[in-house]
Amino acid sequence: MLSFEVPKIASLTKAIDLDSDGCIARAPGRINLIGEHTDYNGGLVLPGAIDKYAYFSCKRIPEPEIRGVALDLEEKARVPLDTTKATGILWMDFILGIVLEFKKRGKAVSGFAFALTSEVPMGAGMSSSAALECAALAGLDALFNTGFDKWSMIHMSQSSNHEFLGIQGGIMDQFASFYGKKDQVMLLDCRTKNHQYIALPSANMEWCLINSCVKHNHLSSGYNDRVAECKQALQDIQSHYPEVQDLSQWDKATMTSVRFSNETVARRAKFVYEENQRVLAFVKGLQEGDIRTCGLLLNASHEGLSMDYEVSCAELDLLQKLGQDSAEVYGGRMMGGGFGGCTINVCKESSIESVMKQTKDAYLQAFNIQAEYYKVALSEGAQVVWV
Ligand code: GLA
Repeated sequence: MLSFEVPKIASLTKAIDLDSDGCIARAPGRINLIGEHTDYNGGLVLPGAIDKYAYFSCKRIPEPEIRGVALDLEEKARVPLDTTKATGILWMDFILGIVLEFKKRGKAVSGFAFALTSEVPMGAGMSSSAALECAALAGLDALFNTGFDKWSMIHMSQSSNHEFLGIQGGIMDQFASFYGKKDQVMLLDCRTKNHQYIALPSANMEWCLINSCVKHNHLSSGYNDRVAECKQALQDIQSHYPEVQDLSQWDKATMTSVRFSNETVARRAKFVYEENQRVLAFVKGLQEGDIRTCGLLLNASHEGLSMDYEVSCAELDLLQKLGQDSAEVYGGRMMGGGFGGCTINVCKESSIESVMKQTKDAYLQAFNIQAEYYKVALSEGAQVVWV
């Protein structure tokens, strides 16, 4: 008996002749209410897993090979098990990077076949890549009986991104994908790794995502640039305050003697400081049911991401402004790495359909692009079923 619904189950099974020796794993995408670009600075984030999943079926095969089928792309690929270089086939490289992490930790991985499919929109800032990696991690961990705990798998995904795929990402996406809980968001301190679940109030409000349907191609280079700029900011701080271990420990109010290398680096540091403060204020607002304050904090976060951190784009700025100008929207901001993808908005429940229609119409007029919108439900993290 399956413990969750699996879309395309016939294809996931048939593509690899899945039998009772194999399993299917799923892992969700995520939203992040607030706390953007803080994770790799040891700061605070407030993500939740969503009811859109990546699915990974797998079984052992006798040949020393990895054979994959990407159902959504209708593509197949096979590589020798000892492959250590990226193939250029992105979906295969995600899996290869994970396999290398198993090997790095001394775990024997034999030949296997896999198939994958995903409901998480790609390039929408909802963490489709991490969903895929976490589904593969959970599936392969079960298949090879390696017994990794969740945090090990979170770090394996991060390490694969850094070392194999060249993206210097943080831990928020993978954390949300493994730790997600129905109807809860999670306040994670990325330095201590402590987290707490917070129920999202639902009365008279609705959270929704608007996908700009653009993905600017400097996404990974822009992201890595920000990581490097934050490292520089940290070094500048440490030359005055050597005890500071990451950028989020910098207290702008008291550590006043810092001279940053340049104005850009100073703005990046200012953003990280302010975004962490906003997360704390946002959590207080949520707990007190003060959704208006939460909405204003979302708007302020967007302003910082756009002006100080410079990871927004004209399309996201317009979507956010349309919301900010509407009396029916409490607030909103770009979500995820930036340079395209979604905005996250909190609206009055009764008016959501009309607000979304107006926003989509205005966006179409300005950019000639059809935006998409999704209501999301907070959901469970990664799971495995044997078949
Ligand atoms: C991407 C990364 C995350 C995080 C966000 C920005 O989603 O994968 O680690 O840095 O961008 O908050």
